[in-house]
Amino acid sequence: MKISFSAPSLPKSGAIAVGVLDDRKLTPSAAELDKTAGGALSRAIKASRFKGKKGQHLEVLAVAGLEASRVLLFGMGKAEELGDTDLDEVGGSIVAKMNEAGEKEVAVYVDEIKGTAKTSAERAARHAFGARLRGYRFDRHKTKEEADSKPSLSKVTFMLEDHADAKKAYKPLDKVTEGVFLTRDVVSEPANLMYPETFVNEAKKLEKLGVELEVLDEKDMKKLGMGSLLCVSQGSERPPRLLIMRWKGGKGKDAPVAFVGKGVTFDTGGISLKPAAGMEDMKWDMAGAGVVLGLMKALAGRKAKMNAVGVCGLVENMPSGKATRPGDIVKSMSGQTIEVLNTDAEGRLVLADALWYVQETDKPNVVIDLATLTGAIIVALGSETAGLFSNSDELAGRLTDAGKAVGEPIWRLPLGETYDKQLDCDAADMKNIGGNREAGSIVAAQFLQRFIKKDVEWAHLDIAGVTWSKKDKPTVPKGSTAFGVRLLERFVTENYEN
Ligand code: BES
Ligand code: MN
Ligand code: ZN
Repeated sequence: MKISFSAPSLPKSGAIAVGVLDDRKLTPSAAELDKTAGGALSRAIKASRFKGKKGQHLEVLAVAGLEASRVLLFGMGKAEELGDTDLDEVGGSIVAKMNEAGEKEVAVYVDEIKGTAKTSAERAARHAFGARLRGYRFDRHKTKEEADSKPSLSKVTFMLEDHADAKKAYKPLDKVTEGVFLTRDVVSEPANLMYPETFVNEAKKLEKLGVELEVLDEKDMKKLGMGSLLCVSQGSERPPRLLIMRWKGGKGKDAPVAFVGKGVTFDTGGISLKPAAGMEDMKWDMAGAGVVLGLMKALAGRKAKMNAVGVCGLVENMPSGKATRPGDIVKSMSGQTIEVLNTDAEGRLVLADALWYVQETDKPNVVIDLATLTGAIIVALGSETAGLFSNSDELAGRLTDAGKAVGEPIWRLPLGETYDKQLDCDAADMKNIGGNREAGSIVAAQFLQRFIKKDVEWAHLDIAGVTWSKKDKPTVPKGSTAFGVRLLERFVTENYEN
């Protein structure tokens, strides 16, 4: 799907999309089209329940006086309430409607609107961002799809006087979509194709953007004493990798912000085997790593003026004659020992060594990890909101704000000594699960916190519920959501640039 910006003109074919404000207030372009069409648009509005509210649409077909096949009126709500995500969603929903209708091309009018905080160029860029995000589709493994079930839309043109400014404003957003798409791609791939080595191959493509890579193999990790991460991968035929990506867009002396992702390319549960039903979902148990990869692509793509390090702990969790047994005791790189009572609580074992490694080598002041860590977070928060855990009120606040701004909401849960105690263990320094089923997501976060050094600001995002969507959303088609890329990209812009 191609996105472009141009000066307004009347399209000779394809569809037209134009905005209407609450309550049935035509934008200048809509009013002009209505005039050209002899009042057909305002008559159609009057004959319908369309009020111009956010998310409402009205399609008017074969309008006399216009050569376009149809006019899609999209509701924008109240001008003074139009925020970034509303504008994104307008763009996304136009793409969805056009694909439903079977249109190939659409021209979207973007007007100057009184009362909005944003210029038409800024708004056109946001519409384009949403349009591109919704236009994503993972169909590389479909070999014989009929043309009439494929998405039809191939071209979206935003028409406004300030088209040059709009194009400029869109450029960094386009880089963010590139990052989001990379995340969606790697998370969607099945585990026979996406495993530690192939994940690293995807990361190698970022080198041409200026990202520096370091890849540790099993031998390297053994030498470093990463017994915690390695006990997860040891049952698999697929060798593990620790992938480190460095983006140095800031001052040399500035400590990097560290992003750490759980990259379990398939989670069978290991010897503590999961039930068969739904196990295929565990191909996306590497979404934390997928988000870190996509984020690094977005930051490098738009040449972010800051230093970031992304670390992905890449392993496959399989049962076999070589697999870790419940009761095995392993030693992590930090020196702390762990009794593995449940081999299905593997994400925390992988993160323990990845977190320790990045703190040792890159000396970040801020560490943020992402992981599809617990089923319990889905019970607590559902599939729209991710769980946030942090040792810093400030960091938690900044992340929450970023999430709100981009439509990726996160909600903070508590940490505390009473939860931490659940991990105490007779045989080793800690066990990898709590004593009962209570507060499973918090206990998992407590485990991670045992691998965070004093004075490091840390946040953990449990994205198990939000990583995969069963239904289409305005800017996110069903499937892999890449939840976290937009959030962290915004977090970086707001806190580490300017
Ligand atoms: N990858 C799972 C968590 C998960 C479950 C993600 C469902 C997405 C959907 C994780 O490794 C896991 O198995 N966690 C266990 C922990 C338990 C054994 C303490 C869980 O949540 O049941
Ligand atoms: Mn598991
Ligand atoms: Zn897992």
